[in-house]
Amino acid sequence: MKILFLGDVMGRAGRAAVVEQLPRLREEWRLDFVVVNGENASGGMGLTGDHARVLLAAGADVVTLGDHAFDQKDMLRFIETEQRVIRPVNYAKEAPGKGARLFEDRRGRKVLVTQVLGQVFMKRAFDDPFSAMDTVLRAHPLGGQAQAIIVDVHCEATSEKMAMGHFCNGRASLVVGTHTHVPTADAMILSGGTGYLSDAGMCGDYDSVIGMEKAEPMRRFVTGMTREKFSPARGAVTLSGVYLETDDRSGHATRIVPVRVGGHLPPSAPV
Ligand SMILES: [Fe+2]
Ligand SMILES: [Fe+2]
Repeated sequence: MKILFLGDVMGRAGRAAVVEQLPRLREEWRLDFVVVNGENASGGMGLTGDHARVLLAAGADVVTLGDHAFDQKDMLRFIETEQRVIRPVNYAKEAPGKGARLFEDRRGRKVLVTQVLGQVFMKRAFDDPFSAMDTVLRAHPLGGQAQAIIVDVHCEATSEKMAMGHFCNGRASLVVGTHTHVPTADAMILSGGTGYLSDAGMCGDYDSVIGMEKAEPMRRFVTGMTREKFSPARGAVTLSGVYLETDDRSGHATRIVPVRVGGHLPPSAPV
């Protein structure tokens, strides 16, 4: 199976780049399944139902969220009506929506998509991500119930993400980090056959501070004072993420390639 995962889409510019580029990438790279992280797609904070529809219509099979899952209040209702939006599995017991779900690609192959939040340096103390992910993976054996399993590990710390990668090794096709908005250079296939990348990066303007216009975050760092709200940067967008090929029988990764298309970062693509 040929899978593309795109990191956090930042605001209007990020959405526009996904709409413009994803249909072409789907075709050119003969993608079977696409997952897009949408937690920052609406003004940099959260995701509205309308913007979720835009990402799905552009070619995302599933949209994942993150710690900003419900920053846009209409997501509280929208997620109950749209199965293709996945929130973190360990967000809160009362949270609407689901943190793991089985989907089908166009040829009927089953793909499990799940997301989990880390605990290190996150704003809130979320439930233990490791026991939460263990429960999900035990219920959906790779190569049995699911031909491919994609784990979006939404964390600040690379150490926690790497630990999650090894924790899922052999049990998931891909463990990919999101949340920091900065892509890492450690794409690899772990010993048990799990594709791994500490962070997918963002689909946003990298001439920024993690996707926000530079002036306000720099002011806050330099002076300690706040003047305005953050707003997503609007320059040239790099679509960042990871491309994965898997073996349908085992569900294991056979090839992993970092993806960077357009904008300020050096390009990387599977073809
Ligand atoms: Fe996040
Ligand atoms: Fe994010």
